[in-house]
Amino acid sequence: MAKTTDKAALNEWYAIETSVDLTAKPVRSRLLGQDIELFRREDGQPVVREIEAGWPTGPALPVREKYGCIWTTLGHPNKEIFEISEAVETDRRFVPCGWVKMRASGLRVVENFLDMAHFPFVHTDILGSEPHTEVPGYLSEIRRDIDEVWATNCTFFQPRIAATESEGAFVQLTYRVPTPFVVMLYRVCPTAPERLDAIALFIHPIEEDLCRAQPVMYLVDSNSTHTALLNFEQVIFMQDRIIVENQRPLLLPLEARQEIPTRADSSSVAYRRWLKEKGIRFGTTMGAG
Ligand SMILES: [Fe+2]
Repeated sequence: MAKTTDKAALNEWYAIETSVDLTAKPVRSRLLGQDIELFRREDGQPVVREIEAGWPTGPALPVREKYGCIWTTLGHPNKEIFEISEAVETDRRFVPCGWVKMRASGLRVVENFLDMAHFPFVHTDILGSEPHTEVPGYLSEIRRDIDEVWATNCTFFQPRIAATESEGAFVQLTYRVPTPFVVMLYRVCPTAPERLDAIALFIHPIEEDLCRAQPVMYLVDSNSTHTALLNFEQVIFMQDRIIVENQRPLLLPLEARQEIPTRADSSSVAYRRWLKEKGIRFGTTMGAG
């Protein structure tokens, strides 16, 4: 497919590569249907360019290096990349978990990340277990002042909430959607209850129904090995991949729902409403043209 005409999608920042993986050797990639090339200049500066008919074209795209990733945009974002305040706390473990490619709309991946109801069935005996299948009531809102979606006061019974834990407990969760293709989870840290672990999921939309996603974690955890932290997240993410790739349609429907949403769906309802208000079409059944 060609570059999308969806202005709302074009004008966002996207994480497209892990910083440490970018070298002087140019690599080809694609963003929102547009072929791109990226490499690191001799002075260390990342360069991203659009490719047409096999050749770089136009001026270099805007680029940022943040949260362990290379970010770019094909449009004109009206603000800088969102802030993750936990990223500057020096006692945290930074765990980028690696990219996973999925045959699904990136928006479906965000929606799945927001959904607590699937924990007992998809992440059985890790993030949920029967008979604890009920999603207790929580609050979802579009925060107009910062233009983000938040879900707060979320709780769920989890048999094994983090790599450090083997006992079940009710976890306190907060979800945040800072841009259409990024979703975050804040979780009361099991080993430091006054602090929150911050887990972000960066999505690199390749085509409408194809994306890569990378969980990036800022954790308060001085006990677990890096491998244990990675393994814990990767097991969960592989389980999600199967679910997301089997959803139909692959694109996210934004039309009024046929089914009556349940209370557990309220974050998804707010997310879809927000996307619609923004005019996002890429990755939705509205068609990106
Ligand atoms: Fe999941």
